[in-house]
Amino acid sequence: MTKKSSRLPGFYRLSLAERANMVAEWANLSPEDVDILTGRGLKNEQANAMIENVVGTYELPFGIAANFQINGRDYLIPMVVEEPSVVAAISHAAKLIRAGGGFQTEATKPVMIGQIQVLDIPDMDAALDALNANKANLLERANCCDKVMVRLGGGARDLEFRPFPETPVGPMLIVHLLFDVRDAMGANAINTCVEDLAPVIADLTGGRTNLRILSNLADRRTATASGIIPAAALTKDDLDGAEVAQWIAEANAFAVVDPYRAATHNKGIMNGIDAVCLATGNDWRAIEAGAHAYAARNGRYTALTDWHVNENGDLYGEITLPMAVGIVGGATKVHPIAKVAMKILDVQTATELAQVMAAVGLAQNLAAIKALATVGIQKGHMRLHARQVAMAAGASGAQVQQIADQLVAEKKIHIDRARELLRG
Ligand code: MEV
Repeated sequence: MTKKSSRLPGFYRLSLAERANMVAEWANLSPEDVDILTGRGLKNEQANAMIENVVGTYELPFGIAANFQINGRDYLIPMVVEEPSVVAAISHAAKLIRAGGGFQTEATKPVMIGQIQVLDIPDMDAALDALNANKANLLERANCCDKVMVRLGGGARDLEFRPFPETPVGPMLIVHLLFDVRDAMGANAINTCVEDLAPVIADLTGGRTNLRILSNLADRRTATASGIIPAAALTKDDLDGAEVAQWIAEANAFAVVDPYRAATHNKGIMNGIDAVCLATGNDWRAIEAGAHAYAARNGRYTALTDWHVNENGDLYGEITLPMAVGIVGGATKVHPIAKVAMKILDVQTATELAQVMAAVGLAQNLAAIKALATVGIQKGHMRLHARQVAMAAGASGAQVQQIADQLVAEKKIHIDRARELLRG
């Protein structure tokens, strides 16, 4: 494979069309792909086949984050997001991590959990004995539900039995099916399997099954990313890099101990991950649910990241979170823009996509806490926000930047002032 660099100096200064062409060249996009990206991507009839009661489509900006190097390979990251600063900030953070050798990532096998709720069990101990004695048969039966997945190397891996002796409705048993879903997000595969297994489990336990559904706390399917930023790379103007590294570690510690801060800290992480989920047609609600539940796995909600100053005085960062993303099925293969996003990313497996997502989360978090620990986020954010305010006031074309600049200069980023300026 030819080595391509995701460093795109001056990319932000190009026109939209120039940027699209540059990405097209980088990712070998066809002219049709570029049309889809820059024109109207999702047609009414496609939208109509995706959900119910469709009356139209809704568009969002599609941006490209630069500078990512993950396990030695360069990636351009497609991001769909409405919030200003997210794409610029993550590209800056990826550049800092690049200075320390780029991201190192890894992921578990893509094992999802399906849950079966069993109630009215006459004898819990006998039920557990029966289930344990029949584990092999149950796993075999689960594999019969999805022969394609098994042929691809996935399939049932284990069963876990979790009794809850006291619940608001009496004792219940929760059966977990652990199933490797390969390159799928896996919801359909898992839900089919647990629905099929439930009657057998009811027979074996003498109980009654109720819910049969996957768990979004996909803690057997996690991705980890880490990176080092040399302290020197954090030196800027009158800021000393070693000090900045320490302030970032302090910012992380705040989120580790305080759930009020952790919620915001993790929201910043998800700014990046959700944007890639949206771009690639993945289920961002599933990823959100998994991330926040995982952040509370030890009984107290905490940060998903660790940032500390390492023995060399450099800044080390790491993130681990559940990452149930797929590259086959769902909107990934239906939404025309998601298909182009997948071409830009050029990942070969869902596990590779999961690792990219983890790197994105870590970089987005670094960008946020570095800004917060130094200049504050309002400075950069308000400049971009001013453009939105100018547009909301009715500015168009070159006026947008002129009005925005004036609002920033006056430190009055308000729609009323923008309207006054427009009236002249
Ligand atoms: C804003 O969308 C995200 C941040 O609040 C994240 C953070 O505080 O770490 C800047």
